[in-house]
Amino acid sequence: MDLTKTQYFINSSRSISNIGDSFSNIDRPTSGPRRLDGKRLAVLADFHDRDPGPVLDVLRDDIPDAVMIPGDIVWGFFPQGEKYLLDRCRNAIAFLQGCCEIAPTYMSVGNHEALLCSDEYDRLRAIGVTVLDNEYTELRFRDDPSPGKVFAGGLTSAHTLSYNHFRDEYNRANGADGYARYPYRRKPKDLEAFPTSSAWLDDFEQADGYRILLSHHPEYWCLREPMLIDKKIDLVLSGHAHGGQWRIKGQGILAPGQGLLPKYTGGVYQGQYGSMIVSRGLNNPYWFVPRWGNPCEIVYIQLRDS
Ligand SMILES: [Fe+2]
Repeated sequence: MDLTKTQYFINSSRSISNIGDSFSNIDRPTSGPRRLDGKRLAVLADFHDRDPGPVLDVLRDDIPDAVMIPGDIVWGFFPQGEKYLLDRCRNAIAFLQGCCEIAPTYMSVGNHEALLCSDEYDRLRAIGVTVLDNEYTELRFRDDPSPGKVFAGGLTSAHTLSYNHFRDEYNRANGADGYARYPYRRKPKDLEAFPTSSAWLDDFEQADGYRILLSHHPEYWCLREPMLIDKKIDLVLSGHAHGGQWRIKGQGILAPGQGLLPKYTGGVYQGQYGSMIVSRGLNNPYWFVPRWGNPCEIVYIQLRDS
């Protein structure tokens, strides 16, 4: 599968330049990430248990200061017995181990992480991944553990919250002996309408520094709550849309949560306060639906104090 690298510069006036195939400038009115000149973030969205080799090769050739993963490291639609999902998605573990060897690694929770259980999150943390499950923390670089106020948050997919709620209810109903990691549930029609949990964003908006939010779903930008476009968040990093699967002249054709001719499938989108960068992702959720005009993508972001 083709893999391209798209690079963006973000300078201290919060303008963003894309030095990939297409070029865009976004003017931002306020001051930006001081003391961060040259720091680089790799954004790796929608890994979906693919072969990690080509992705890790890019990271080793061009080592970032931090790896940002806005969800969907696994492929996890339906339960298949009680075997741990991470034991079925072994590429995801190899991928995260590789990322953590290269740079501090932060991830948020996508819709495909719905089937992961707490044991599996413990495994991810043991590898060294900072899992941001509706929470935020100060982002720390390896060579500068106190870089001066960059905060990373992770907004959990409503799909995953919905399944977790169902699993809790199921296990409560079946008692302690009936615990099931992956109780079977058909996807309800209204799953996308289940709200995410965003009250913590009020605190995140007050964090004194440059605020980066990993939000798997680009729909949360301005198509559904929590409407990130109105939040005081400097940079939102998203995936999920897989570039619209097929692209014609930069227009994606179909994306989950957005339907036909989706608007938020790849590139930079400007808000009142900050911006959102959507990655086209590293893989497809369905092997039998190929991409067209839409290579997989690693995004690099370089922070500059201009
Ligand atoms: Fe995905």
